[in-house]
Amino acid sequence: MPHQSTFIMVKPDGVRRGLVGEVIARFEAKGLSLERMELTVPSGEVAARHYAEHRQKSFYAGLIDFITSGPVVAMQWSGESAVTVARTMIGSTDPVGAPPGTIRGDFGLDVQENIVHGSDSPDSAARELAIWFG
Ligand code: RTP
Ligand code: MG
Repeated sequence: MPHQSTFIMVKPDGVRRGLVGEVIARFEAKGLSLERMELTVPSGEVAARHYAEHRQKSFYAGLIDFITSGPVVAMQWSGESAVTVARTMIGSTDPVGAPPGTIRGDFGLDVQENIVHGSDSPDSAARELAIWFG
């Protein structure tokens, strides 16, 4: 399997709850490498580009309000199969069904405020890294 880069973001709820260190520690312990990191309040434009695939969804407006509601930690992580490895460690979208041991399974209960984002494919990772880091 290939060496990959992925875009990871601690969402505003994760920052507010003091989970930034916990999220970073898990990826470090797994053996992935932190390449870039920035604390930033996303603009509406960046949020809209990032979540463009969800434009038609019923939850879209609430999602944009949420993701722009405070600082996020935007990160690039790299390593062997980093995209899949990070998604597995994050867990399923709804934390209620995410297994213990995953970030969402251990720390969340809300389908929107689910702590962390991870790119869902290498193409998404390239697209998202360009949006957030230029
Ligand atoms: P993400 O993109 O943030 O890593 O999450 P994901 O792939 O697991 O889930 P996705 O389907 O891409 O949804 C993006 C984010 O939108 C919010 N969401 N809310 N209210 C709802 O039913 C609902 N569904 C999704 C979540 O914050 C989800 O992570
Ligand atoms: Mg997604």
